[in-house]
Amino acid sequence: MFYQVGVVVLAAAATLAEASFENNLAYGSPSKRHPGLAVPLAHIYKRQTGSLYTANEVNFTHGVASGDPYDTSVIIWTRLAPTADNVAAEIVPGGVVPIYSDPEAAQPSTKAACVEFKISTDQTFNNVADSGRAYTTSDVDYTVKFEAANLQPFTTYYYRFNVCGSSKTSPAGRTKTLPSKNQKVSRNVKLAVYSCSNYPEGYFNAYGNVVRKDSVDYVLHLGDYIYEYKADEVRKALPDRETYTLYDYRKRIATYRTDVDLLDSHSRFAWIPVWDDHEVANNAWRNGSSNSDGEVFRKRKQAAVRAYFEWMPLRQVDMDDSLRIWRSFSVGDLFDLLMLDTRQYDRDLTVLNGVAGIGGNSQEVEKLVDLQNRTIMGLKQEAWFYDQLRQSSSRGAAWRLVGNQVIFSRMTLGVFTDTPFNRDQWDGYLANRDRVYQTLADGKINNTVMLSGDSHAAWVSDLAWLGKKDYNEATGAGSFGVEFAGSAVTSKSPLSGVVPRWIADPISKLLINANPELQWQDLYYRGYFELDIGYEALSAQFFGIPDLKKRSGDEVLLARFLVRNGENRLARNPTVGGGVAYAGALKNGKVQ
Ligand SMILES: *[C@@H]1O[C@H](CO)[C@@H](O)[C@H](O)[C@H]1NC(C)=O
Ligand SMILES: *[C@@H]1O[C@H](CO)[C@@H](O)[C@H](O)[C@H]1NC(C)=O
Ligand SMILES: *[C@@H]1O[C@H](CO)[C@@H](O)[C@H](O)[C@H]1NC(C)=O
Ligand SMILES: *[C@@H]1O[C@H](CO)[C@@H](O)[C@H](O)[C@H]1NC(C)=O
Repeated sequence: MFYQVGVVVLAAAATLAEASFENNLAYGSPSKRHPGLAVPLAHIYKRQTGSLYTANEVNFTHGVASGDPYDTSVIIWTRLAPTADNVAAEIVPGGVVPIYSDPEAAQPSTKAACVEFKISTDQTFNNVADSGRAYTTSDVDYTVKFEAANLQPFTTYYYRFNVCGSSKTSPAGRTKTLPSKNQKVSRNVKLAVYSCSNYPEGYFNAYGNVVRKDSVDYVLHLGDYIYEYKADEVRKALPDRETYTLYDYRKRIATYRTDVDLLDSHSRFAWIPVWDDHEVANNAWRNGSSNSDGEVFRKRKQAAVRAYFEWMPLRQVDMDDSLRIWRSFSVGDLFDLLMLDTRQYDRDLTVLNGVAGIGGNSQEVEKLVDLQNRTIMGLKQEAWFYDQLRQSSSRGAAWRLVGNQVIFSRMTLGVFTDTPFNRDQWDGYLANRDRVYQTLADGKINNTVMLSGDSHAAWVSDLAWLGKKDYNEATGAGSFGVEFAGSAVTSKSPLSGVVPRWIADPISKLLINANPELQWQDLYYRGYFELDIGYEALSAQFFGIPDLKKRSGDEVLLARFLVRNGENRLARNPTVGGGVAYAGALKNGKVQ
């Protein structure tokens, strides 16, 4: 009767907390208060036979991960399963019903696996700060999520899982807590920022390089961690079809988690992720995507969201809001990190097909872009976002970093008109963008840094409120902050396929000429960027990955930028980026 929560303490390990289903946060994800989105525990108790998997019957199949660090706690993740494959299940009102029709899927079992964790400041686990135990079952695809607590701020920890009462252990992971909210931070804090990691399109060298350099404190992912469509290029995405069901999304994430560099990144760094469209479906908005809407989209989104919460080491910050992943982190008095969801939460209609007003529904969207009541994130999240910006400024945090999916700055080709070419970015939600600028202006909020992904190219801009406030592209005067938008880990350039630099670089040149606030742009390289955040200044380094077809540590430095506290623009030293970049096009600078 091990499943009677709170009654039985397994005698074997009196020092450890008793096991329960509740201790495994995977059962709460995405929200146990909403039937269909999480598994009612009553349903799980009913399905138990009372027997546990022995250590020989289960494996830690997908490594370990940690994420959403706070000053005294962090989320840790693993999977302890009788199979490397994933569990098929159908979501029905009131719970999850196992289905047996999928030949690729394992048979859901009523047996549970029991998992223990330890977290310690040393790698030999002599200074254990917290420990715990919990069950996992097929209902949550055998995933395990704990909140490891009782930790010290801004401290490195090692954590490890084992089968209860057994010496069968997972690999050890390393993680780090954040500095406490009002703590003066003793040294600069470094982040690696990623987006758009398409497994079939290449190896995740970008993740591995930061592990090899051991160059950051935390990892941010701005979405498109997986892709939903069927693809088989450099390597095949399983399942070999577009994802719709819970099994599909679990299997897709699990396939990505076989990349050694991704596994290493998860096991060496605490991640702070948000999703973009492809975690559900291409060009998703509140009620649909490019190729699905209505009930099909609703069920698909439900499955995708659930698999994401099971497999990603993130917190559920509001149990009554099962879609909410927008959340914030205070990193001492150095910066606040606001992670937005401009994609799945409550976004108004986007461009599903077609471009720049030609084809698909893009003409329809063109007529909506100016509507005052249009929103990219929903009014509830907007109110929260503006409030967070104001609070962060008034508490005196030096910087405000905003992790966001799509590019914030206006982007035009400027060939015939100034019309933006991608309404699937903030350019399709003009009033919402104005409200962000208005908030910064009204509150005299300084040192705002937008971080963006989604575009598969690199864009570095001052935050210029075009048409509302004068902006001088040579000096940066009039800017409200900066935007760093990173290229993809592997996803193809927006120019598609392999476009040589002699084609890519002149297009970058055209783009920086057409957009006054755009100071550097590159279309050629896949890659990522690192931020080094101090009180006096913040710097960014962009890296490019030359080869995606094999696992490799090669990378090239593409450009570097500085932002001085209080200047609200990219530093000109003497021009932006020190006047030199190694790819793309740099305003008033050379490309070597
Ligand atoms: C666990 O891993 C071992 C070693 O790779 C393998 O032989 C065994 O079949 C796995 N067991 C399960 C249940 O997956
Ligand atoms: C759109 O989505 C919202 C929230 O997810 C839901 O309340 C609403 O019913 C949906 N509308 C349609 C037309 O499906
Ligand atoms: C937004 O404003 C337009 C034009 O005023 C109106 O037609 C539409 O119904 C409004 N939408 C909502 C959701 O209020
Ligand atoms: C932002 O910087 C300006 C110029 O230095 C200053 O006047 C303003 O008070 C600052 N805002 C806040 C909230 O400190």
